[in-house]
Amino acid sequence: MSVENLLAPIKSFLQSETPQTWIDQAAKPENLPVILIDHLICELKAAQSAMFLIRKYAIDKNSSNKLLSWFKPYEDFIYKKQGDLATLEQSPKLSKDIVLKATTNGAQSVFTQDLVDKMLMLIKEELHHFYQVLEIMTNRGIEYQNITAGRYAKGMLKHVTTYEPNALIDKLIIGAYIEARSCERFAKLAPHLDDDLNKFYVSLLRSEARHYQDYLALAVKIAGEEKDIRERIEYFGKVEAELISSPDEDFKFHSGTPIS
Ligand SMILES: [Fe+2]
Ligand SMILES: [Fe+2]
Repeated sequence: MSVENLLAPIKSFLQSETPQTWIDQAAKPENLPVILIDHLICELKAAQSAMFLIRKYAIDKNSSNKLLSWFKPYEDFIYKKQGDLATLEQSPKLSKDIVLKATTNGAQSVFTQDLVDKMLMLIKEELHHFYQVLEIMTNRGIEYQNITAGRYAKGMLKHVTTYEPNALIDKLIIGAYIEARSCERFAKLAPHLDDDLNKFYVSLLRSEARHYQDYLALAVKIAGEEKDIRERIEYFGKVEAELISSPDEDFKFHSGTPIS
Protein backbone atom coordinates (compact mmCIF):
# COMPACT_ATOMS: atom_id res chain seq x y z
CA MET A 1 0.00 0.00 0.00
CA SER A 2 1.35 3.43 -0.91
CA VAL A 3 1.92 6.06 1.76
CA GLU A 4 -0.89 8.15 0.27
CA ASN A 5 -3.36 5.25 0.56
CA LEU A 6 -2.16 4.56 4.08
CA LEU A 7 -2.73 8.17 5.09
CA ALA A 8 -6.08 8.75 3.39
CA PRO A 9 -8.30 7.29 6.18
CA ILE A 10 -6.18 9.04 8.81
CA LYS A 11 -6.55 12.41 7.12
CA SER A 12 -10.30 12.03 6.98
CA PHE A 13 -10.47 10.80 10.58
CA LEU A 14 -8.54 13.79 11.95
CA GLN A 15 -10.50 17.05 11.96
CA SER A 16 -7.48 19.27 11.41
CA GLU A 17 -4.15 19.13 9.65
CA THR A 18 -0.87 19.78 11.45
CA PRO A 19 -0.20 23.51 11.04
CA GLN A 20 2.74 24.46 8.82
CA THR A 21 4.19 26.52 11.68
CA TRP A 22 4.57 23.34 13.76
CA ILE A 23 6.37 21.60 10.89
CA ASP A 24 8.69 24.60 10.42
CA GLN A 25 9.52 24.54 14.11
CA ALA A 26 10.03 20.77 14.22
CA ALA A 27 12.30 20.86 11.15
CA LYS A 28 14.80 23.23 12.81
CA PRO A 29 18.00 21.30 13.57
CA GLU A 30 18.18 22.82 17.06
CA ASN A 31 14.82 21.24 17.87
CA LEU A 32 15.85 17.71 16.89
CA PRO A 33 16.84 16.75 20.48
CA VAL A 34 13.45 17.76 21.90
CA ILE A 35 11.62 15.98 19.08
CA LEU A 36 13.57 12.75 19.59
CA ILE A 37 13.44 12.82 23.40
CA ASP A 38 9.71 13.54 23.38
CA HIS A 39 9.20 10.86 20.73
CA LEU A 40 11.09 8.37 22.94
CA ILE A 41 8.83 9.21 25.90
CA CYS A 42 5.72 8.99 23.67
CA GLU A 43 6.66 5.45 22.62
CA LEU A 44 6.83 4.38 26.26
CA LYS A 45 3.55 6.18 27.04
CA ALA A 46 1.83 4.50 24.09
CA ALA A 47 3.00 1.10 25.34
CA GLN A 48 1.99 1.96 28.93
CA SER A 49 -1.53 3.05 27.92
CA ALA A 50 -2.03 -0.30 26.19
CA MET A 51 -0.62 -2.11 29.23
CA PHE A 52 -2.95 -0.15 31.50
CA LEU A 53 -5.98 -1.18 29.43
CA ILE A 54 -5.23 -4.89 29.50
CA ARG A 55 -4.22 -4.88 33.18
CA LYS A 56 -7.42 -3.08 34.15
CA TYR A 57 -9.87 -4.83 31.87
CA ALA A 58 -8.50 -8.13 30.72
CA ILE A 59 -5.74 -10.13 32.36
CA ASP A 60 -5.11 -11.95 35.65
CA LYS A 61 -2.78 -10.80 38.42
CA ASN A 62 0.10 -13.08 37.54
CA SER A 63 0.09 -11.96 33.89
CA SER A 64 -0.13 -8.39 35.07
CA ASN A 65 3.07 -8.83 37.08
CA LYS A 66 4.82 -10.37 34.07
CA LEU A 67 3.87 -7.35 32.00
CA LEU A 68 5.17 -4.98 34.67
CA SER A 69 8.55 -6.69 34.77
CA TRP A 70 8.72 -6.57 30.99
CA PHE A 71 8.29 -2.79 31.15
CA LYS A 72 10.69 -2.23 34.03
CA PRO A 73 13.95 -1.59 32.08
CA TYR A 74 12.17 0.93 29.81
CA GLU A 75 10.58 2.70 32.78
CA ASP A 76 13.87 2.67 34.70
CA PHE A 77 15.52 4.37 31.75
CA ILE A 78 12.91 7.13 31.49
CA TYR A 79 12.14 7.73 35.17
CA LYS A 80 15.47 6.89 36.82
CA LYS A 81 17.90 7.38 33.94
CA GLN A 82 19.17 3.86 34.51
CA GLY A 83 20.52 1.56 31.81
CA ASP A 84 21.20 2.02 28.11
CA LEU A 85 20.65 0.30 24.75
CA ALA A 86 22.56 -2.80 25.86
CA THR A 87 20.41 -3.13 29.01
CA LEU A 88 17.28 -3.02 26.88
CA GLU A 89 18.65 -5.55 24.44
CA GLN A 90 19.37 -8.01 27.25
CA SER A 91 16.08 -7.44 29.03
CA PRO A 92 13.65 -10.40 29.14
CA LYS A 93 11.12 -10.67 26.35
CA LEU A 94 7.47 -11.14 27.15
CA SER A 95 6.41 -14.74 27.36
CA LYS A 96 3.28 -15.77 25.50
CA ASP A 97 1.40 -17.13 28.50
CA ILE A 98 -0.79 -14.14 29.29
CA VAL A 99 -3.93 -15.39 31.04
CA LEU A 100 -7.30 -13.65 30.89
CA LYS A 101 -9.34 -12.80 33.96
CA ALA A 102 -12.14 -15.27 34.57
CA THR A 103 -15.41 -14.11 33.03
CA THR A 104 -18.85 -15.62 32.81
CA ASN A 105 -19.98 -13.64 29.79
CA GLY A 106 -19.08 -15.20 26.42
CA ALA A 107 -19.39 -12.01 24.34
CA GLN A 108 -17.24 -10.17 26.84
CA SER A 109 -14.47 -12.76 26.66
CA VAL A 110 -14.35 -12.62 22.83
CA PHE A 111 -13.82 -8.87 23.12
CA THR A 112 -11.26 -9.36 25.91
CA GLN A 113 -9.19 -11.80 23.87
CA ASP A 114 -9.22 -9.38 20.92
CA LEU A 115 -8.21 -6.51 23.21
CA VAL A 116 -5.31 -8.52 24.63
CA ASP A 117 -4.11 -9.71 21.20
CA LYS A 118 -4.15 -6.23 19.70
CA MET A 119 -2.65 -4.50 22.73
CA LEU A 120 0.17 -7.02 23.17
CA MET A 121 1.14 -6.58 19.53
CA LEU A 122 0.98 -2.80 19.97
CA ILE A 123 3.12 -2.93 23.14
CA LYS A 124 5.77 -5.03 21.38
CA GLU A 125 5.89 -2.60 18.48
CA GLU A 126 5.99 0.56 20.63
CA LEU A 127 8.80 -0.84 22.78
CA HIS A 128 10.69 -1.72 19.62
CA HIS A 129 10.17 1.85 18.38
CA PHE A 130 11.47 3.03 21.76
CA TYR A 131 14.63 1.00 21.18
CA GLN A 132 15.00 2.41 17.65
CA VAL A 133 14.61 6.03 18.79
CA LEU A 134 17.13 5.49 21.58
CA GLU A 135 19.53 3.93 19.09
CA ILE A 136 19.26 7.02 16.87
CA MET A 137 19.80 9.32 19.86
CA THR A 138 22.82 7.30 21.01
CA ASN A 139 24.38 7.35 17.52
CA ARG A 140 23.91 11.11 17.33
CA GLY A 141 25.17 11.82 20.84
CA ILE A 142 21.79 13.19 21.95
CA GLU A 143 21.54 12.61 25.66
CA TYR A 144 18.23 11.68 27.22
CA GLN A 145 16.88 14.12 29.77
CA ASN A 146 13.63 14.26 31.60
CA ILE A 147 11.18 16.66 30.01
CA THR A 148 7.69 17.56 31.13
CA ALA A 149 4.68 16.14 29.33
CA GLY A 150 2.82 18.43 26.94
CA ARG A 151 -0.88 19.23 27.29
CA TYR A 152 -2.05 16.91 24.48
CA ALA A 153 -2.95 13.54 26.05
CA LYS A 154 -4.13 15.09 29.32
CA GLY A 155 -6.27 17.50 27.32
CA MET A 156 -8.23 14.55 25.92
CA LEU A 157 -8.17 12.24 28.94
CA LYS A 158 -9.89 14.81 31.13
CA HIS A 159 -13.03 14.29 29.01
CA VAL A 160 -13.23 10.54 29.69
CA THR A 161 -16.63 9.42 31.02
CA THR A 162 -16.65 8.20 34.63
CA TYR A 163 -18.72 5.03 34.17
CA GLU A 164 -18.24 1.81 32.21
CA PRO A 165 -18.28 0.72 29.48
CA ASN A 166 -18.27 4.34 28.25
CA ALA A 167 -14.96 5.07 29.99
CA LEU A 168 -13.27 2.21 28.13
CA ILE A 169 -14.85 3.31 24.83
CA ASP A 170 -13.56 6.88 25.38
CA LYS A 171 -10.04 5.65 26.16
CA LEU A 172 -10.02 3.53 23.00
CA ILE A 173 -11.21 6.50 20.91
CA ILE A 174 -8.47 8.69 22.44
CA GLY A 175 -5.94 5.95 21.65
CA ALA A 176 -7.10 6.04 18.03
CA TYR A 177 -6.63 9.82 17.86
CA ILE A 178 -3.15 9.76 19.38
CA GLU A 179 -2.01 7.04 16.97
CA ALA A 180 -3.62 8.75 13.97
CA ARG A 181 -2.04 12.11 14.82
CA SER A 182 1.38 10.53 15.37
CA CYS A 183 1.12 8.89 11.98
CA GLU A 184 0.07 12.16 10.30
CA ARG A 185 2.93 14.08 11.95
CA PHE A 186 5.58 11.46 11.12
CA ALA A 187 4.52 11.67 7.47
CA LYS A 188 4.52 15.47 7.47
CA LEU A 189 7.85 15.82 9.24
CA ALA A 190 9.78 13.06 7.43
CA PRO A 191 10.60 14.98 4.18
CA HIS A 192 12.14 17.82 6.23
CA LEU A 193 14.64 15.59 8.01
CA ASP A 194 17.93 14.06 6.88
CA ASP A 195 17.86 10.79 4.91
CA ASP A 196 18.24 8.41 7.85
CA LEU A 197 15.55 10.08 9.94
CA ASN A 198 13.31 10.44 6.92
CA LYS A 199 13.53 6.68 6.30
CA PHE A 200 12.96 5.92 9.97
CA TYR A 201 9.85 8.10 10.23
CA VAL A 202 8.39 6.67 7.02
CA SER A 203 9.06 3.15 8.36
CA LEU A 204 6.83 3.90 11.36
CA LEU A 205 3.76 4.88 9.34
CA ARG A 206 2.44 1.40 8.69
CA SER A 207 2.37 0.27 12.32
CA GLU A 208 0.99 3.58 13.61
CA ALA A 209 -1.78 3.46 11.00
CA ARG A 210 -2.64 -0.07 12.14
CA HIS A 211 -2.62 1.00 15.80
CA TYR A 212 -5.18 3.70 14.96
CA GLN A 213 -7.40 1.14 13.22
CA ASP A 214 -7.05 -1.38 16.04
CA TYR A 215 -8.13 1.14 18.68
CA LEU A 216 -11.08 2.25 16.62
CA ALA A 217 -12.17 -1.31 15.83
CA LEU A 218 -12.00 -2.20 19.54
CA ALA A 219 -14.12 0.85 20.45
CA VAL A 220 -16.76 -0.17 17.90
CA LYS A 221 -16.66 -3.78 19.08
CA ILE A 222 -17.07 -3.08 22.80
CA ALA A 223 -19.85 -0.58 22.07
CA GLY A 224 -21.75 -3.32 20.23
CA GLU A 225 -24.53 -2.89 17.72
CA GLU A 226 -26.97 -1.14 20.00
CA LYS A 227 -24.66 1.76 20.82
CA ASP A 228 -23.71 4.36 18.23
CA ILE A 229 -20.35 5.90 19.07
CA ARG A 230 -20.12 8.25 16.07
CA GLU A 231 -21.01 11.26 18.20
CA ARG A 232 -18.33 10.39 20.74
CA ILE A 233 -15.74 10.01 17.96
CA GLU A 234 -16.78 13.42 16.60
CA TYR A 235 -16.55 14.93 20.06
CA PHE A 236 -12.99 13.73 20.71
CA GLY A 237 -12.08 14.73 17.17
CA LYS A 238 -13.03 18.31 18.02
CA VAL A 239 -11.12 18.29 21.30
CA GLU A 240 -8.07 16.84 19.52
CA ALA A 241 -8.21 19.32 16.64
CA GLU A 242 -8.41 22.19 19.11
CA LEU A 243 -5.31 20.96 20.97
CA ILE A 244 -3.44 20.70 17.67
CA SER A 245 -4.55 24.05 16.17
CA SER A 246 -4.63 26.42 19.13
CA PRO A 247 -1.55 28.36 20.29
CA ASP A 248 0.81 26.39 22.53
CA GLU A 249 3.96 27.81 24.08
CA ASP A 250 5.35 24.39 25.02
CA PHE A 251 6.90 22.85 21.88
CA LYS A 252 6.58 19.05 21.82
CA PHE A 253 5.77 16.25 19.38
CA HIS A 254 2.01 16.65 19.87
CA SER A 255 1.93 20.38 20.65
CA GLY A 256 -0.37 22.98 19.13
CA THR A 257 0.54 25.99 16.99
CA PRO A 258 3.92 27.24 18.21
CA ILE A 259 4.16 30.76 19.60
CA SER A 260 7.44 32.17 18.38
FE1 LIG B 1 5.25 3.85 17.95
FE1 LIG C 1 1.63 3.43 17.81
